[in-house]
Amino acid sequence: MKMRELILFVALFTAFTSFAQKTPGLVPTPPLGWNSWNKFGCNINEDLIKEMADAFVQNGLKDAGYEYIVIDDCWQVARDSKGKIVVDSVHFPSGIKALADYIHSKGLKFGIYSCAGIRTCQERPGSNGYEEIDAKTYAAWGVDYLKYDWCNSSGIDPVKAYTDMSNALANSGRPIVFSMCEWGNSRPFTWAQNVGHLWRTTGDIQDCWDCKREWGGMGWVTILDMQVGLEKYAGPGHWNDPDMLEVGNGHMKHHEYVAHFSFWCLLNAPLMAGNDIRNMSDSTQNILLNKEAIAINQDKAGIQGSKVYDDGDYEIWSKPLSNGDIAVIFFNRNEQQYDFPALWKKAGIKKNMKVYDIWQHKEVGTTKEMQTVTIGGHAVQFYRLSK
Ligand code: GLA
Repeated sequence: MKMRELILFVALFTAFTSFAQKTPGLVPTPPLGWNSWNKFGCNINEDLIKEMADAFVQNGLKDAGYEYIVIDDCWQVARDSKGKIVVDSVHFPSGIKALADYIHSKGLKFGIYSCAGIRTCQERPGSNGYEEIDAKTYAAWGVDYLKYDWCNSSGIDPVKAYTDMSNALANSGRPIVFSMCEWGNSRPFTWAQNVGHLWRTTGDIQDCWDCKREWGGMGWVTILDMQVGLEKYAGPGHWNDPDMLEVGNGHMKHHEYVAHFSFWCLLNAPLMAGNDIRNMSDSTQNILLNKEAIAINQDKAGIQGSKVYDDGDYEIWSKPLSNGDIAVIFFNRNEQQYDFPALWKKAGIKKNMKVYDIWQHKEVGTTKEMQTVTIGGHAVQFYRLSK
């Protein structure tokens, strides 16, 4: 057995007997919440995070099922002489425990960020070599969720690094959701089922349709294309993560955000809002708070939707639901509106079914009656079909 295979074997064995058994049922459905990165980057502080917790309650996110408030990079500045992480006392003067307590007082859960590398992506101290002490610190603060990044990791084995933190969390004395942010480099979906609860499948999302940044960031349609074939790796307790939402961040049109959100629901993606939820337009609220769309994401069978038809500009995706219903997305990638044939059979529909439109919030016909489907440019029709 080669060294890498041996490490993989030991890591998977240890993970299987520790983490998975100690944290059953933490995320039976994909986690829902908010993360500071997409909108605020490093411009974060405790007042901002507390205002987000208030907004969760006031603006209906909590009622719609959103639960986790996650601070991303930039809350940490150094390590003390004992190796304990030091919080940025200028922006978080009351400390992280007080912030976690505030978020818990609203009936919400609290998440934090670190990195499996030596330093985080914003050059703050990473957790490599400090897994045990960091996990214990998080547990003492009341952390419920850890996003764990992959910057400054050259020469580090991903299986070992993520398994080390997974075990440290399992030994921390507190159930903590482990969100692996390794960007899909080592195909974590093939090895991380018993290491983490969710794993990023790609590089960073950007607030655009299919743009590609030189440094690796990309639009949501580019990310969507990279999810094909990954559906078999996800299920209750272990989810593919195509990255956080960009809905409401201002660089796309309403129907493009509707399409982005519809797909993230169908893919069983973690729904982590990435906008300023204190000030949301009606359009953004209507998208993020669509309980019928969220119900597709939170269906207890946990079957990730998949692409069932591809004709270039026109795609059909479908997802079987626990009660026998089927969720279907008809997707028009072109900028022009078209009438497409409603190929119900491709989506697994053999008998006549009722068609409920998830964005119009009403029944619009039956599969027998609907032979074509009109889809605007860069848009979707998102349906729930039932007998
Ligand atoms: C990486 C991650 C992002 C974000 C930043 C923070 O790029 O993939 O989601 O956490 O780091 O620095």
